[in-house]
Amino acid sequence: MDVLIVDDAESVASRGFAFTRRCLDQKSDAVLGLATGGTPLALYALLVAAYDRGELTFDKVRSFNLDEYLGLSPDHPQSYSAYMQRELFGRIDIQSRNAQLPVCEDPEDVDEVCFDYEKQIIGAGGIDLQILGLGENGHIGFNEPASSLASRTRLKTLARGTLEANARFFHAGETQPVTAITMGIQTILDAREIVLMASGANKAAAVAGMIEGPVSAFCPASALQLHPSVTAIVDQDAASQLKLKGFYEWIALQNDRLGRSV
Ligand code: GLP
Repeated sequence: MDVLIVDDAESVASRGFAFTRRCLDQKSDAVLGLATGGTPLALYALLVAAYDRGELTFDKVRSFNLDEYLGLSPDHPQSYSAYMQRELFGRIDIQSRNAQLPVCEDPEDVDEVCFDYEKQIIGAGGIDLQILGLGENGHIGFNEPASSLASRTRLKTLARGTLEANARFFHAGETQPVTAITMGIQTILDAREIVLMASGANKAAAVAGMIEGPVSAFCPASALQLHPSVTAIVDQDAASQLKLKGFYEWIALQNDRLGRSV
């Protein structure tokens, strides 16, 4: 795993942007795996700004989001569909049929939606670049601790801590779903390249578990150690519990010197 330690959340987003732009420059019909939550907001703002400047087009891009709450209609403001529309899809030229989330409004359809989502990803040729955030308990997507490392898209019950962390997105009186459909860990590992972004001291333990802990379902993000092309972009606070922090900074310095940095 490549570990890039940068100053702050803003730099996390700008490095994440550089990886995304490189992917789109290399392949105009790239398939992106996208994340929600607070972390990717600054990345999406940079993508929108680049689109506005005429530097990027998403006309041929396809995207698959990691997850969506079960039972929220796509136009519910707190659905991830509405988030993506607000923050990215509605502000760039991606074709709406090419921007997918695992939407399921009727619980009876869950199995079919999950099966179909996997089929659609394969049909699109697989994900070229998967963007990830990180939960405080080490989750990626909504793959909570004890998720099978071989899991595929399915329904998950969210951990109490995850519900508390995400409660800030819901207004008083709004029902916060406790289940969601999420890509599985194996679905994520099937992507050709993965960029995980994390910032803030509240992510430090999860970052350490992901990079230096054992590969274990206890910290789902540790499964990324099994992937040959992962870059973790973390800020100083999120990197604060890494034992080999100086080593990762040394490697990044050498890569900069050799002109191998993205
Ligand atoms: C949510 C999402 C994840 C996200 C994580 C971190 O639960 N399902 O995809 O990465 O939590 O969120 P944030 O970036 O807001 O800290």
